[in-house]
Amino acid sequence: MRDDIMREISLGNGEIKASQVALGIMRMGAKSVTEAQNILETVADQGLNFIDSADIYHDGHSEEVFGQALKQSSLKREDLIIQSKAGIVLEHSRTTADGLVFGKRYDFSKEHLLTAVDGILSRMGLDYLDSFLLHRPDPLMEVDEVAEAFNQLQASGKVRAFGVSNFNSRQIDLLQSAVDQKLIINQVQLSLKHTPLIDQGIFVNRFEDEASDRTGGMLEYAQQNKITLQAWSPYQYGMFKGVFIDNPKFPELNQVLQAVAAKYGVTKNAIATAWITRLPQDIQVILGSMNPVHLKESLAGADIRLTRQEWYDLYLAAGHQLP
Ligand SMILES: NC(=O)c1ccc[n+]([C@@H]2O[C@H](COP(=O)([O-])OP(=O)(O)OC[C@H]3O[C@@H](n4cnc5c(N)ncnc54)[C@H](OP(=O)(O)O)[C@@H]3O)[C@@H](O)[C@H]2O)c1
Repeated sequence: MRDDIMREISLGNGEIKASQVALGIMRMGAKSVTEAQNILETVADQGLNFIDSADIYHDGHSEEVFGQALKQSSLKREDLIIQSKAGIVLEHSRTTADGLVFGKRYDFSKEHLLTAVDGILSRMGLDYLDSFLLHRPDPLMEVDEVAEAFNQLQASGKVRAFGVSNFNSRQIDLLQSAVDQKLIINQVQLSLKHTPLIDQGIFVNRFEDEASDRTGGMLEYAQQNKITLQAWSPYQYGMFKGVFIDNPKFPELNQVLQAVAAKYGVTKNAIATAWITRLPQDIQVILGSMNPVHLKESLAGADIRLTRQEWYDLYLAAGHQLP
């Protein structure tokens, strides 16, 4: 593990330090254990030490592949900070043929959260998670029940730190008012082509759609409350619509990415990473590639500090406006 290479950030209130770029294993279930081992060793060699998962990725198979790959690799459990998420339930047997997904629900009940963590630990072959997140807000959330689950998970040593994903600031405030543990992470969608978090701060008090505050001022809220934001799908546009890098649908963005990449002697992936890490909130970028070459290229962005003009050039080239 060469943790001297990549920039480190403090997560939340600072008790955990981690590489600013992390590996998400959502797509790992499609890989063999040996391929996954190669991926883990490649990124660890570059200083990446944070892994993000969720119990639903490939219906749990991503966690099985990860667990076996870790065991077979040269890495030790303690070399990595391992996070997973739960709270989304997919019951495929209830999904109807016409595509109506009645088999999906959110479940933050104490029973479900405790069972879900046991499942994660068993699939990954671990004794504990460094971090556990509630995956997506559940309107039926009973905060006291979540508090009991968190206490039990912490007391049993199964989870060290807690956070959320896709929450707005009011939802975090509500949950934080009930749980003893400091919520240290909110994992949210953010890329050059998915910028509502940023747009709403630029279009304050205007009539354009961009002015809509969809998260309760999450950038400022997280910074002020010492909550680390993790950016998921850093190279995607829409909800898993595809990658914007080298995509002919986005010629202007790719042209500017290429020009900036050439200046720093890196690839477009690195610049798309650096565009996120340039924000003052020390956002952690969660990469989803399963290609060691793409991963190495993407990681290089953590240590690049774009100029202000480059950051704005990229924002505009991605099709956003400035008033
Ligand atoms: N909290 C949530 O609700 C939530 C939702 C979604 C995801 N996540 C987390 O975020 C992680 C990342 O999500 P993501 O996988 O959507 O992120 P991503 O890194 O934006 O996308 C990964 C995809 O982009 C492709 N890619 C990367 N660079 C490329 C290039 N230069 N040319 C062509 N294709 C390229 C990868 O293909 P290759 O493998 O071929 O490189 C892979 O298919 C997930 O693993 C998961 O941990 C969280």
